[in-house]
Amino acid sequence: MSVLNIRKYPEKILMKKARSVDTIDDDLQQLIDSMVETMHAAPGVGLAAPQVGVPKRLAVIDTAVGDSESELLVIINPVIIQKEGDIEFEEGCLSIPEYTTKIHRAERVLVSALDREGRPVELHGEGLLSIALQHEIDHLDGILILDRTSPIKREFFKKRFRKSRKLSK
Ligand code: NI
Repeated sequence: MSVLNIRKYPEKILMKKARSVDTIDDDLQQLIDSMVETMHAAPGVGLAAPQVGVPKRLAVIDTAVGDSESELLVIINPVIIQKEGDIEFEEGCLSIPEYTTKIHRAERVLVSALDREGRPVELHGEGLLSIALQHEIDHLDGILILDRTSPIKREFFKKRFRKSRKLSK
């Protein structure tokens, strides 16, 4: 187990669609453990494999951020099969430090996935868990919160980002 390096915007891996997991072996279990440790160390409520440089459809979510083991979720090859309602929340992302933006998402989702042992599971998410599930599944499709915000806010962020990079060079 180790804390992994979190990839940051604008690294290309964050914009790519990840591949399905086809083998659940010891290497994957180690990756999952390290992702959980990295998420808790950050701290964050979710982390997707592409954020640690692994282009696989795998994410970990913990809306209790380590306070309660029962909240920890590992989702492999997740698919949203139902969406309902609307919720707006100020979201951040470990790959875009010091940035938050309000995003509308479904208030409730039903997700089918495999758990870390490879067993099929169905997960009902509501509120913060629904947001986290949609946010992490977006990562597996190369979609960032920047892509979910308004075009004006996105341009504003990109301008500010380019400017700050120039200043730090
Ligand atoms: Ni994120």
